[in-house]
Amino acid sequence: MRLDKYLSESGIFSRSEAGKAIRSGRILVDGAPVKDPSKHIAETAQVLCDGKPVIWSKYQYIMLHKPAGYVSATEDKGRTVMDLVPPACVRLGMFPCGRLDIDTTGLLLITNDGPGAHNWLSPKHHVAKTYRFTCALPLSEEARLRMEAGLELGDFTSQPSQVELNAPTEGEITIVEGKFHQIKRMFAAVDNEITSLQRIRFGPLKLDESLEPGQWRYLTDEEIHALQTVHS
Ligand code: URA
Repeated sequence: MRLDKYLSESGIFSRSEAGKAIRSGRILVDGAPVKDPSKHIAETAQVLCDGKPVIWSKYQYIMLHKPAGYVSATEDKGRTVMDLVPPACVRLGMFPCGRLDIDTTGLLLITNDGPGAHNWLSPKHHVAKTYRFTCALPLSEEARLRMEAGLELGDFTSQPSQVELNAPTEGEITIVEGKFHQIKRMFAAVDNEITSLQRIRFGPLKLDESLEPGQWRYLTDEEIHALQTVHS
């Protein structure tokens, strides 16, 4: 691939900034300076910018601890989760993989891996998502068991879920689908109400508790590998 494309897809430069950096001699490829932005290099080449390695990969993956008040979309009238990650993410075509409601916090994957996102969000694949919740009223055992068994919600019946309580109005719920307002609707169906919701698990990914709301980090190689092995 072209050297300027390699650099811009690595997220450190726009295409025109990459051209300038290359022409000014800041880039070494496999130990030799390259000043031609159109020079083709191997994906496996060792590229240094100002002496620091630049790693290209086909897709990028970010874990965001979504705070309340941000819409899970790339564009909206209000603030979006893309306002919380580096501007290069938008340029690289990254988007939130799935949606959390504006008042839901927690783990949100942001990636430009379209085929992967399609796979992880497909209802066929039953990717488990776990949320910490608090609810307005104590959740009775009868209501908990009804939620676990699956509830008739009008336009669909929820699939079996797991609901564990740590206190009468607090616990964790794991669902394997992701219908609009699903958990809020499940609680409403048992005459209760969600008062806070935080996603702590998405398939093999666990929310990194060292991330404060609004902070993000790149996924580790192990996390990317675990995601890539999710299938039906
Ligand atoms: N279920 C909801 O009701 N809201 C979310 O944000 C996620 C799951």
